[in-house]
Amino acid sequence: MKQRKILVTGALPYANGELHLGHLMEAIQTDIWVRLQKLRGHDCICVCADDAHGTAIMLSAESQGISPEQLIETVKQHHQRDFADFLVEFDNYHSTHSEENRLLTESIYKALDANGHINRRRIKQLYDPEKKLFLADRYITGTCPKCNAEDQYGDNCEVCGSTYSPAELINPRSSISGATPIEKESEHFFFALPVFRDMLKKWTRSGALQEPVANKLSEWLDEGLQEWDISRDAPYFGFEIPDAPGKYFYVWVDAPIGYMASFKNLCDRSDYNFDDYWKPDQDTELYHFIGKDIINFHTLLWPAMLTSAGYRKPTAVYAHGFLTVDGTKMSKSRGTFINARTYLDHLNPEYLRYFLAAKLSSGIDDLDLNLEDFAQRVNSDLVGKVVNIASRCAGFISKGFAGSLAKKLDDKELIAAIQAAKNEITEHFEQREYGKAIRLIMALADKANQYINDKQPWVIAKTDKQSPQLQEICSTGINAFRLLICYLKPVLPRMAQQAEEFLAIEPLQWDDIDRLLLDHKINKFKPLMTRVEADKVQAMVDATKQEYAQQQAAKTQSTETDSSGLEPEIDFADFTKVDLRVAKIVAAEQVAGADKLLKLQLDLGLDDEGSPLTRTVFSGIKSAYRPDDLVGMLTVVVANLKPRKMKFGVSEGMILAAGPGGKDIWLLEPHSGAQAGMRIT
Ligand code: 2FM
Ligand code: ZN
Repeated sequence: MKQRKILVTGALPYANGELHLGHLMEAIQTDIWVRLQKLRGHDCICVCADDAHGTAIMLSAESQGISPEQLIETVKQHHQRDFADFLVEFDNYHSTHSEENRLLTESIYKALDANGHINRRRIKQLYDPEKKLFLADRYITGTCPKCNAEDQYGDNCEVCGSTYSPAELINPRSSISGATPIEKESEHFFFALPVFRDMLKKWTRSGALQEPVANKLSEWLDEGLQEWDISRDAPYFGFEIPDAPGKYFYVWVDAPIGYMASFKNLCDRSDYNFDDYWKPDQDTELYHFIGKDIINFHTLLWPAMLTSAGYRKPTAVYAHGFLTVDGTKMSKSRGTFINARTYLDHLNPEYLRYFLAAKLSSGIDDLDLNLEDFAQRVNSDLVGKVVNIASRCAGFISKGFAGSLAKKLDDKELIAAIQAAKNEITEHFEQREYGKAIRLIMALADKANQYINDKQPWVIAKTDKQSPQLQEICSTGINAFRLLICYLKPVLPRMAQQAEEFLAIEPLQWDDIDRLLLDHKINKFKPLMTRVEADKVQAMVDATKQEYAQQQAAKTQSTETDSSGLEPEIDFADFTKVDLRVAKIVAAEQVAGADKLLKLQLDLGLDDEGSPLTRTVFSGIKSAYRPDDLVGMLTVVVANLKPRKMKFGVSEGMILAAGPGGKDIWLLEPHSGAQAGMRIT
């Protein structure tokens, strides 16, 4: 086999926020691919970095009262720790705010300029006269010129959907200072992208891109390309443009160059040679894994810049879709915008790696993390199928044969069939069709379990714990397990390592699929993976909601002028919409699997037609009340809250309680004159 030399990059996360599961999906997709190549014996390197420049980072540091350098340093440490804890292994993790990147960015810019691909002209933009800052569209809010909806952002209205230029907004405001923006002129630098149209038309159809991506790009290429504004005026956190005081490179110029810079940083302390991977006509491969939202930067601007500056183009750019949770866009208030760290506080990273692998394809469709599906899938596949094979066989080997595997197998065909799937599985992984690879691996696991069911080693063991046949059957099972673990190793590196310890073998390589494990002493089996527990998943969602609530509270406190810490004001009309009633708790019970919830049956008196009005409500007061003590108590309930489907059932209202939480949650017990059904007036 010819050893390939491959350089892979993962998209660079912005250095102004924590990683969330969306970032992890991409990193895990990349990591699985890279691990596969390494296991196959190819020379594959994966580099990444933090994307550390831009206005957002500058403002975020300012609002925290720290320097941008301090902010990006802290965030980088968090990012690296989170990636590592998800077993995402980069060969180098750098920052775009680095000396290597400054030098490369300057030299590429100088090449572009020398080739006549940089044009300078004056343009008008909105400017915040208080903050003394040019405003990107997303920092401008105002009233929609079409439908008069208030508080609409920059260039499109979320209410009526129309698009416009920020200058058309009625009563525009800078969202940074609240000042009315003015128009101001300044000189900008433009990259002559249209010059590269023919090259791009060819390259985008060269097989370097997924078909839907190439199709979308050809529409853009046919419509014609615009020159690209690559400069920003001070103040800006980034690199100053050479010989242009007060002008900075737009963050998207030095971000992809950050791939090169991270690799350069690695070259400077290893035997890798920069030019081997970046000069044209080398026999090395270069791949960028990215999200579909940043396709245009990577498939138009980046290859054009590389070409102008005399570098190679990527072998391929692989885009993926977005991660949704429970069928919709990740939402902070619903608790589905889950940070990497919050996940890790509750769940095993390999659960997520496996689930994502099982669902990933080479396309750009969004991928849904349905939390019930997640638990079910991991439990049934990994715990129920794969680990089960070892746990069903290992005990007999250690008890009857002092841990030694047989000299020959009971069923060579079964093992040969598992080995024979190697090429197909390799090809699916190589093509990023991980879901297909996993389906095939699980079908083989089913086969192995079926074999054990048929052979019933436990029946043989009852009569003879040392029967040679028993040893050969269990050795067949253990061999099947070893092969499946090898196939899963790119996805589950930690579980594979534990399995290697159990099997007392050297780290598995891909070609070990072609070998068997016979006449070999293994160690005592320890469970390799425990089941996903529903209450841990729920705890993760609850923690996410709590983080959001805290953030909101902090925000409200910092924006409230009277610093009362209250939620924003509501109108009287809003208030009258809330139908509050006194309710009697007629039954209360524990909810299986829920940490905090009790299920309450409420008596709300009679409705207008004289029929009993009842509600079933799930309430998070378990920490403060025993169900029996609640029965008979009165409380106040929001009677017209839209029923909400919760994990444990539908909740038809909300009871009011007060207190900081834990043991201190007080139901409002109205005075003795109160009775169920009374309206609160
Ligand atoms: O969209 C983003 O999150 C960017 N920070 C990705 C940059 S990728 C590369 F070009 F640097
Ligand atoms: Zn509108």
